[in-house]
Formats: sequence, C-alpha cells, structure tokens
Amino acid sequence: MNRSFYIKTYGCQMNDYDSEKMNDILLNNGFTKTNKVENSDVAILNTCHIREKASEKMYSDLGRLSVFKENRIRAGNNMQIIVAGCVAQAEADEILKRSKSVDFVLGPQNFHVLPKILKKTKLEKNFTNFLSEEKFKSFPASNFKGVSRLITIQEGCDKFCSFCVVPYTRGAEFSRPPEDIYAESQDLVNTGASEITLLGQNVSSYKSKIYNKSMEKEVNLSDLCRILSKIKGLKRIRYITSHPNDIKSDLINEHRNNKKLMPFLHLPVQSGSNKILKDMNRKHSREDYIELVNSIRSDIPDIAFSSDFIVAYPGETDQDFEETIDLIQKVKFASSYSFKYSPRPGTKSSLKNENVDERTSTNRLKKIQELLLNQQTNFNDSFIDKTVEVLVSSRAKKNNQFVGRTKHLQPVHFFSSKNVIGKTLKVKINNRTSFSLHGKLLN
Ligand code: SAH
Ligand code: SF4
Ligand code: F3S
Repeated sequence: MNRSFYIKTYGCQMNDYDSEKMNDILLNNGFTKTNKVENSDVAILNTCHIREKASEKMYSDLGRLSVFKENRIRAGNNMQIIVAGCVAQAEADEILKRSKSVDFVLGPQNFHVLPKILKKTKLEKNFTNFLSEEKFKSFPASNFKGVSRLITIQEGCDKFCSFCVVPYTRGAEFSRPPEDIYAESQDLVNTGASEITLLGQNVSSYKSKIYNKSMEKEVNLSDLCRILSKIKGLKRIRYITSHPNDIKSDLINEHRNNKKLMPFLHLPVQSGSNKILKDMNRKHSREDYIELVNSIRSDIPDIAFSSDFIVAYPGETDQDFEETIDLIQKVKFASSYSFKYSPRPGTKSSLKNENVDERTSTNRLKKIQELLLNQQTNFNDSFIDKTVEVLVSSRAKKNNQFVGRTKHLQPVHFFSSKNVIGKTLKVKINNRTSFSLHGKLLN
C-alpha cells in the first residue's frame, strides 16, 4: 500500500508555494495525501519563524504529533516526522534536541532531498544547507489546478532589517532564471490559471540574466512582467513583497503600460517615525515613502496600496507611534497587516533593551488596527454603485453564488446560473459585508 503524507503550513505565501511543491514531489514518488495527521506515515510541519508566536505554535503541534507517533508505533506502524521551513533552518539543533520524535529537519532550500531521505532508514537528520538552485531545478510539474496560482521567483534577502529573521532563514538573495519562470507560468496557464502572483521576500530586487541573440541581457522585475504578459490566456500578474527602495521608474512604467499587471502594490513601511525607520535599517525616511506613494499615484491614479506595520519596536515613544498614525492618515491604505514587535533570536534589535511595556503595545496595536480597518472599509465603500472587473475563482457558500477578486484584490460575491469560474466578468457593486463586496453580474 502507498505510504500517506500530511502537511501543515504556517507563515507566508512562500511557504504555501513550498508546501505545494513538497506535495508534488511526494505524489510523484508514490505517496498519497491525507488530511488525518494521526494516520499519516509521514507528517510534515512547514514552519514560520517570523514572530515568536509562529515558532511556539510549531512546538505545541510537535508535542501532539509525538503522541500520535507513539500510538502508531504501539500499533505496529511508524510515523516519520519532518520539521521543514524557516524554524527548521533557524533552530535545527534545538528541535532535534527538544523532540526525540523528529526524524528530519529540512530547511527551506532542501525540499528536493525529500524522496531520498524517506527511502533510507538510517541517515543524517539535519538538512539545512542553502541550495536554492538545486531545489528549484528539482521541482516537478504541478499536480494542482486553480485560477490564481503562486510562483516563487526570488528567495532570500540581503537587506538585514534589524528585526527580521528572513536573511537567516532563507539565506542570501537568489533569483530564478526567467526561462524557468516562464515555463512554469506557461504550465500553470495550460492547466487553468488566469492569474499568477510572483513571490519573493524582496521581489522587486529580482535580477537575473537571459540569453538573447547570443547576448547576455539582465532581466529585472519589470522586464520579467513584460515577458510573462506575452503568455496567451494569462490575464493578471501580481507580485509580492516589495521594499520601497527597490521601486524604480521602470516598474511604474510597466504598471502604466502593461494592462495585465494589476494596480495594487503591497509596500511595507513598518513605521512612520524616522528615528525608528533608521534603527530598523530600512534605509529610507517617512518623507521618502510618502513621496514615493504620491508620485506613483500621480502616474497611475487607480493604484491601491497595502502595507505592514510593526508597533512597539524597542524605543518607540508615543511621539514615534503618532508619526506612524500620521503617515497612515496621509497615505490611506486599501488594506494592511500590523503586528506587535517580537524580538527574534539572532537579530540586531533583539539585543536592545528599551522594550515597550505590554499594555502600551496592546493599546497601540488596537489603535492602529482600528484605523487601518477604517481605511479598508472606506476604500471598499468607494466601490459601491461602481462596476468592477472580477476574476472568478470559485463557488461560494450559497446556491449559484460565486466569488472572485477585483484588480485591487477585494473579494466579490455575486450570483450566476452558469458556471463562470475562470472568467473575468463585470459586476455592479451594491453592497458590502465586513471584508467582501457584493454585486450583480452584468450581461
Ligand atoms: N520582505 C518584507 C517583509 C517580510 S516579513 C518587507 O521587507 O517588508 C512580513 C512582515 O512581518 C514584515 O513586513 C513585518 O511587518 C513583520 N515582521 C517581521 N519581523 C517581525 C518581528 N520581529 N516582529 C513583528 N513583526 C515582524
Ligand atoms: Fe526582512 Fe523584508 Fe527587511 Fe528583508 S527587507 S530583512 S525580508 S523585513
Ligand atoms: Fe515565515 Fe519564513 Fe515566510 S519566517 S514569513 S515562512 S519566509
């Protein structure tokens, strides 16, 4: 009988992509997928290290898995437990020391060794080398289908923001060759995708080479978007996440000229205080950020912005926090994520001892989240009575109800008697619930 596997994914979309690829590798090697972790022969946790809570969650899940494993061993079976992803990379030795039931730890650049390690019985346990190139080369064609698909084009980060573990967990920046990205995108479109989202922790610093008429040509993100937009049947291209310092005029021009490139930019700013931005090593000021947003808006009037914020970074005063609030009020975001600062082992800011007390952190998070939700609501309200273009991704809960996304990533619910999945349709918005727009299909 085929051995079964279970995968749980934590963290960002890059982990979603990696988990999908681990799925593909295991399916192609004769494993079957199960959602019942307690019955699985191989259980994989694809982990995230970005904040303390994410890592803690992994350790508590690992405790549960160890019990399942003991039960299975008692019943004469086994369960191989694999901790993969960013916690694996950062804390391989600690994981192996803390939990004897873990069979392998697999850093984010080591998934290609999966079939090999699962075949052999006695082998080393720690696979945490930085092998991006081998990893991507080994990925098989996708077994999945869907209207909107993810594709990692760039990994790692060289920016070393003071608070962030990514440069340590994902390693140095690596960009995949454009030919490989094109081929993978074409495959996704052949199997039903209409939209692809290009992923990277630092996607706008994408840089690779292409051989054109025996000449070597450098390809950046705007070039790549232009190349990919040639794929017939591909309707929408997105990319995430960008650092403000990497957004240059060529990318803005591409947004202006390339109708397939969606008018939505996730551009994390983290803080609106120059003092905090400097300490975070973000290498730009609040004025730079506001100016960048304003200049992009004057070029592309319908573009929407989203961001990430960290509150209560060490040394953040009420005044610093108010500057963040002021920046939000000036920019106006379509949606955003905000987090309480979490000191991470090995990062520069974790050595600072001007921690903001818990009550102040909680109050600041509450205040910023209220403001951001308010802006999101205003943004969505501005679409009521307007007609939007919706790329339909799936059926929704009610009979004959479908859901899709606007160019600005807002979910839209509407009814249709025909199956319209994969189509781009015009919907007149007449209502809104907390996070979704509702409307009537035109024609
Ligand atoms: N590459 C992206 C960030 C990726 S991490 C960028 O440059 O902005 C995703 C988000 O997690 C970050 O934008 C930040 O807001 C948050 N984050 C990262 N480290 C954190 C920490 N130590 N504490 C709290 N939030 C953190
Ligand atoms: Fe982390 Fe993003 Fe800064 Fe890189 S640019 S160190 S991924 S926050
Ligand atoms: Fe988390 Fe690693 Fe992504 S730390 S946010 S899973 S890059």
